[in-house]
Amino acid sequence: MKTTISLRSVRGSFFLILGLAAAAFAAHAQHRLHNQGDDQKQQHPWMDSTLSPDQRAEMVLKEMTLDEKIALVHGNGMPGWGKPRENAYMGNGGAGFVLGIPRLGIPMIQMSDAAYGVRSSAENGRYSTALPSNVASAASWDTEAACEYGALIGRELRAQGYNMTLGGGVNVTREPRNGRTFEYMGEDPVLAGTLVGNRIRCEQAQNVIGDIKHYAANDQETGRNEVDVLVDKRSLRESDLLAFEIGIEVGNPAAVMCSYNAINGDFACENKYLLTDVLRDSWGFKGFVLSDWGGTHSTIKASAAGLDNEEPEDLYFGANLKDAVQSGKVPMSELDEHVRHILRSEFLSGIVDHPIKKSVVDIEGGFETARKIAEQSTVLLKNADSLLPLDGAKVRSIAVIGPHADTGMISGGGSAQVDPPGRPSAGWQAHVWYPSSPLKAVSAKAPGATVQFDSGENPASAAALAKKSDVAIVFVYQWTSEGADLPNLSLPDAQDALIAQVAAANPHTIVVLETGTAVTMPWIDKVGGVVEAWYAGSKGADAVANVLFGDVNPGAKLPMTFPRAEADLPHPHMVVPPPGTHGRAAVASNGDAKPTFSVRYDEGLKVGYKWYDAENKPVLFPFGFGLSYTTFSYSALAVKPGAGSKGETTVSFTVKNTGSRAGSEIAEVYAALPASAGEPPKRLVGWAKVQLNAGESKQVQVTVKPKYLSIFDEARNAWKLEPGSYRIMVGGSSQDLPLNQTISLSL
Ligand code: BGC
Repeated sequence: MKTTISLRSVRGSFFLILGLAAAAFAAHAQHRLHNQGDDQKQQHPWMDSTLSPDQRAEMVLKEMTLDEKIALVHGNGMPGWGKPRENAYMGNGGAGFVLGIPRLGIPMIQMSDAAYGVRSSAENGRYSTALPSNVASAASWDTEAACEYGALIGRELRAQGYNMTLGGGVNVTREPRNGRTFEYMGEDPVLAGTLVGNRIRCEQAQNVIGDIKHYAANDQETGRNEVDVLVDKRSLRESDLLAFEIGIEVGNPAAVMCSYNAINGDFACENKYLLTDVLRDSWGFKGFVLSDWGGTHSTIKASAAGLDNEEPEDLYFGANLKDAVQSGKVPMSELDEHVRHILRSEFLSGIVDHPIKKSVVDIEGGFETARKIAEQSTVLLKNADSLLPLDGAKVRSIAVIGPHADTGMISGGGSAQVDPPGRPSAGWQAHVWYPSSPLKAVSAKAPGATVQFDSGENPASAAALAKKSDVAIVFVYQWTSEGADLPNLSLPDAQDALIAQVAAANPHTIVVLETGTAVTMPWIDKVGGVVEAWYAGSKGADAVANVLFGDVNPGAKLPMTFPRAEADLPHPHMVVPPPGTHGRAAVASNGDAKPTFSVRYDEGLKVGYKWYDAENKPVLFPFGFGLSYTTFSYSALAVKPGAGSKGETTVSFTVKNTGSRAGSEIAEVYAALPASAGEPPKRLVGWAKVQLNAGESKQVQVTVKPKYLSIFDEARNAWKLEPGSYRIMVGGSSQDLPLNQTISLSL
């Protein structure tokens, strides 16, 4: 005992001395840093962080040579893209980088894709947490979760030597077969914009340049480099662009990535309407616009339209732009404006004041966040006869069925891909299964039960296993990726037939969907339960098991409609490019880039649920739908109309948990505008997430911004409130709105 004590005290003194030494060293280092800071300040007055980003940018700009300016407005290649470049070694293995100006203390911008985690790649084999996909996180309708999501990515970017994210995808889901739906936030602009804004706000707070993309109307992958989206301005402003408008307002991102496609004749990255009239003049955006990779098509036109930075190369914004400036074809003031936007963003985001220091990623912390967000994102779609939650102590036998259900869960591909740790990079479009085993996670919940696995490859054997089990849990998947759209919304690989056969053998069949977008469910009436897990990230299986066994009461709701069939979509057949176009823009006789085909958004304002509402088309599962293991009731609606065009409307009501377990309810508020507005039947204008114990009631208040009740007036180029009656509706899904009150807005 004595020895132990003395040993402890020796160890204690050792650590005390070590601690004191470390503190002294830290103080010294800080002092040095502080002095360095002073030196820098003396050397460079713009290093004074009490000045505004605009003031600081202006001061740097005055010192810059033409070559330094040009260096800031283009990328320097991407690993695996085009010819290897001399300065490639200066990159960090990410999607691109912009050189710094060391003599002026301006750092390089190191960019990485980071849709649902920092993109891994063969180049430097980093470790990253894979969060649930973006559409999954939108299913949480949770602004705090969105913030945590962004903060985690921001931290991991910096840990890995990056100071700019290329995440922040928010194209509204007009076309659910779009292969990138999993990278976006669903079909409603208010929901998507609010969530992406909160994500970016917290990401950027980690001293990384935040980004929002792909601006705009890049709603299908098929022909993305050559398609011309034809859409009227009002529909554009009220749908696709509204998501960006809100995202920018809430998140204040330092960067906007313009998209590959053209809109109304001009490619997005040389589209004056998008880049100047709307982004700068209407929204007052002060950051910089970078092109999607290879999305720049010109020098003079793109620069004049408002593109600030070409990525990932310098085909147009390198020597060509320099020549154009020297010959007066592009005014110096225009180049200065691009540089100003970039410098301002560097100061605003904190990347100048907080140089990158690589560090170790907090793996356990990342897992914890990934699991928590996955739990908040899992949508319970069907629960016949309260089959769920399963009772781990009572269930005697469980069949776990599905391709890979023994080893992992699927993720989304393309530039968003986050590779699992310890595995070689999978390439751009490979099926990547995270090592998060449904079989293990389910077995751990029911230690007394016989849990058996069948891959489903032979449906008859899977059905036989299901037949002799108390319950069958079928894990099915639909893989999607950037660069390709889905041919249809069916589960691939005959999984519909597998589910049907298993369900015929055992009605206590629960289907767990691992999908990036909506799927059709021809077997829906035959199964007992359906859980939408999306691409659930690094800890997906644990999260799903926690929901299946009731450790977590699901509270997520669909951020997009699940239609009954493709025939019900606004475009039953996806519009595809004509044969022989090679996926590239054509060239017009004047040298301008030219789209090869067009998609007319003739559904206009009727995006997502607005389409099904307006067309009276029944759906499989509506927007905003999701079950819980408890039930909720709504009462006591009182709406206080906002006064005038600036006043917010206040919607109060009571939500009660009428079941026997605690749970959270996403209470949704919709508005039907006066008939004179010519709008679809209703739109989401706000929501609240309410946590309630069994039997508990809470009064909830949702404030609605006037813009959310407005229409876009093309003639006046402004939002306007229509005079007349507004019907405010409240409830648990877009098709279950028990409360309503009609108000009249005084303008
Ligand atoms: C994608 C972008 C991505 C970029 C860099 C492009 O193909 O559309 O979303 O950020 O590549 O990887």
